[in-house]
Amino acid sequence: MERMRRLRVSPAMRSLVRENHVRVDELIYPIFVIEGNHICNPVDSMPGICQYSIDRLGEELDRVLEAGITGILLFGIPAHKDEVGSGAYDDHGIVQEAIRFMKSAEKYRGLIVIADVCLCEYTSHGHCGLIRDGIILNDETLPLLAKTAVSYAAAGADIIAPSDMMDGRVGAIREALDEAGFLQIPIMAYSAKFASSFYGPFRDAAHSAPGFGDRKTYQMDPANGREAMREVEADLLEGADIIIAKPAMAYMDVIRDISADYNVPIAAYNVSGEYSMVKAAAANGWIDERKIVMEILTGLKRAGAKMIITYHALDAAGWIKEGE
Ligand code: PBG
Repeated sequence: MERMRRLRVSPAMRSLVRENHVRVDELIYPIFVIEGNHICNPVDSMPGICQYSIDRLGEELDRVLEAGITGILLFGIPAHKDEVGSGAYDDHGIVQEAIRFMKSAEKYRGLIVIADVCLCEYTSHGHCGLIRDGIILNDETLPLLAKTAVSYAAAGADIIAPSDMMDGRVGAIREALDEAGFLQIPIMAYSAKFASSFYGPFRDAAHSAPGFGDRKTYQMDPANGREAMREVEADLLEGADIIIAKPAMAYMDVIRDISADYNVPIAAYNVSGEYSMVKAAAANGWIDERKIVMEILTGLKRAGAKMIITYHALDAAGWIKEGE
């Protein structure tokens, strides 16, 4: 008989043989910045998460620093939207100004600012690209994404993260960044991004729900794992430095497959719907939030994620520091 229990006899023994750990410096915390003043709007469907105006962003950033988290992912909510998403590539747009605020403050300058590049928060129709006759245009959207990326980099972003799922956007962004002299700015590509219902709460938070139809002509079919590998391959060939798999929990096989085939850092995006489900069950007393969150994050590490983007990051960092 194999006596597997020999190595489970005590906390110390289990710790000795533990294969995976969640580290605070591998957690990335998403933050929503909104135009206006004195705003700290709680997002109803995401308990614990707020939209902050830049004048109050410091409160949240102080919590990030306190937690020891080194990376944040920025999403912007502009005051005005239009057909062409011009708020995204406005050099004085909400994300650009938020980045400038962070990079001009001694205290926050060292945080890694990852800027999500997409048009959906900025378009009146809520789609991630330009539209003609009800079709989401691919090639016509690329220059706008590239312009947005350069504008974020110029404001001081440390990493550019395109989440739009247009074909060829990583290449277009890489070329534009290089031309503008931002050779050192990495691209973290949402490569395996599925057309998922787990994004529901995020669309409340970012005011980015599509006004008509859905995102199935550009985001991936949740049934397709092999196709995800082609997306990854294409993005790597176009110059992606880090690959995001998203959502995380229902797609752990995708994370595993990417990590088996490519020697590239993988970020698992534990998305809004995954967060809200845990928060709702915990609020009802049905699950132990702390244990469940740590189990989920550890599972993502085991699957092959190097870093984890999660709305639980502040809480998880505190628990990790206490020794889970
Ligand atoms: C923008 C974007 C979305 C998310 C990240 N970037 C929404 C979407 O694709 O509809 C979702 C993140 C989450 O649910 O936490 N395209």
